[in-house]
Amino acid sequence: MLRIIQWLTHRERLLRSLNPLFGRFNPFLPAHRSDPHATWRALREAEPVYWHPVFRMWMLTRYEDVLFVLRDGNFTTDRSSVPLMRWIARMSRDDAQFSAMIERNLLMMDGPDHTRLRGLVSKAFTPRRVEGLRPRLEQVVDGLLDDCAERGEMELVRDFAHPLPVIAIAELLGVPVADRHLFAHWSAQLVQLLDPLQASGGVESMRRATHEIFGYFGRLLEERRSDPRDDLLSAMITAEQDGLRLEELDLLALSSLLLVAGHETTSNLIGNAVLALLRNPDERKRLQDDPALITTAIDEFLRYDGPIQFTDRAVRSDCEIGGKQIRQHQLVGVVLAAANRDPEQFADPERLDLGRSDNRHLAFGQGSHFCLGAQLAKLEAEIAIGRLLRRFPDFGGPLEPNEWRRSMIVRGPTAVALTLG
Ligand code: HEM
Repeated sequence: MLRIIQWLTHRERLLRSLNPLFGRFNPFLPAHRSDPHATWRALREAEPVYWHPVFRMWMLTRYEDVLFVLRDGNFTTDRSSVPLMRWIARMSRDDAQFSAMIERNLLMMDGPDHTRLRGLVSKAFTPRRVEGLRPRLEQVVDGLLDDCAERGEMELVRDFAHPLPVIAIAELLGVPVADRHLFAHWSAQLVQLLDPLQASGGVESMRRATHEIFGYFGRLLEERRSDPRDDLLSAMITAEQDGLRLEELDLLALSSLLLVAGHETTSNLIGNAVLALLRNPDERKRLQDDPALITTAIDEFLRYDGPIQFTDRAVRSDCEIGGKQIRQHQLVGVVLAAANRDPEQFADPERLDLGRSDNRHLAFGQGSHFCLGAQLAKLEAEIAIGRLLRRFPDFGGPLEPNEWRRSMIVRGPTAVALTLG
C-alpha cells in the first residue's frame, strides 16, 4: 500500500488525468504543493465540512470546527479502526518492538494510557531543560553560520534549517551528535508512520529502522542507568508519577518518536519563515529594525505558513458538524493551515504581520495532544532567524524554492539557495 502511494506521488501526468476523482483536494498536484493556502481557502469558502471521495475522510477547514474536534473526547487518535492503520498493525502483530513503535506512540494513543505516558515524559521534558539549551543552540547556530560565511553562500535547508533541529534534539536527549547521519536515515523511514506520502521504503523498511533505532537507544539507556547524566534520556529513566515509571519499551518508543518528531518539523518552520521574509520585504525590514519582535514573529510564521498542514482523528460515535452527519469510525482531517487563515478568527489573515497580537494559531495542535516540543521548536526558530538576520542582513534568495516537499502533511522547501550579501 505504501509503495503504491509512493509510486503515485511521482506520476504527475497520471495524477493530473485522475484529478477529477480527487474532488476539491488533490495533494499530488504541483500547484497545490506550491500554494496549499489557495486550496484551503477555496475549500473553507465552498464546503468547510467536506467528504473526500478518495481519502475517505472528512476535511474541516474552519477554525471553530478544527478547535472543537481537537478538544472534544468524541474524536480519538486511536486510529485502529482505520483500514491503513489496521493493516500496518496486522503486519506488526508478531513483532513486539515494531508494535510498540506504533501502539506506544503518544500520537496514536488516547485516554488514561496517553495521560500516564505524557505525564511521565513531561516530568523529564521540562521548560527549564529546554531553556537550558539556549546557550548551546546559540553556539550551534553561530557555528553553522560561520561555515556558510567562509563559503560565501548557503543552501538554506542543507546547511542550516536541517542540521539545527537534529543537533538540538540530540543534545536534549543526550545522544552523540556525531551519530546524526543515522538519525536522518531512521527518521526518513519512520516518518512514513505519520505521513504515508513520504513513503520511501514501505513497512519492511519501517520495521528494520525500528529494530535499529531501538537497538541504538537500548544500548544508550543501559549506559545511562549505570552512569546517569544531565540529559533527557537519564531524566526519562528516573521520571516517576504515582509510583510508576516508564517501562523499557515505552522509553524506546518515546526516544524514537522525539527524534523523528523533532527532526523535520522545525527545519520546515525555518525554511518557510525565510521564504516568508524574502516574499515580504517590508515585514523583514520591520523585524530587522526591531529585533524584539522575534517572539511574535515566530508565532506569525507558524500561523502564516506552518510546517504541519493537517492532522486527523477517528470518530468514536455518530455526530454532526456544520450540518453534516459524521459516522462512527470515520476519519476526520482537521486542516490546521486552513484554520490558521480563517477570517472569522484572524483579522486580515492572508497578510504576514510579524507584530500580530492575540495570535491563537493552531500550528502545534490543541488539547491533550498539543505538541510536546513546541517550546523547543520556537526557541530554535527564534535563535536561527534572529541570528541569520543579524549576521547576514542583506541575504537574498528566490521567492519559490527549487521544490516543495512531496507530502500531504508536511509543508516546507527541499532546497533554497541564498546569497549572503
Ligand atoms: C515547528 C515545529 C513543530 C510543529 C509545527 C509541530 C506540530 C505538532 C502538532 C500539530 C502536533 C499535534 C498532532 C495531533 O494532535 O495529532 C504535535 C505533537 C507532538 N510533537 Fe510536535 N511539532 C513541532 C516540533 C516538535 C519537536 C521539536 C518535538 C520534539 C522534540 C515535537 C514532539 C511532538 C510530540 C512528542 C507530539 C505528540 C504529543 C502527544 O500526542 O501527546 N514536536 N506536534
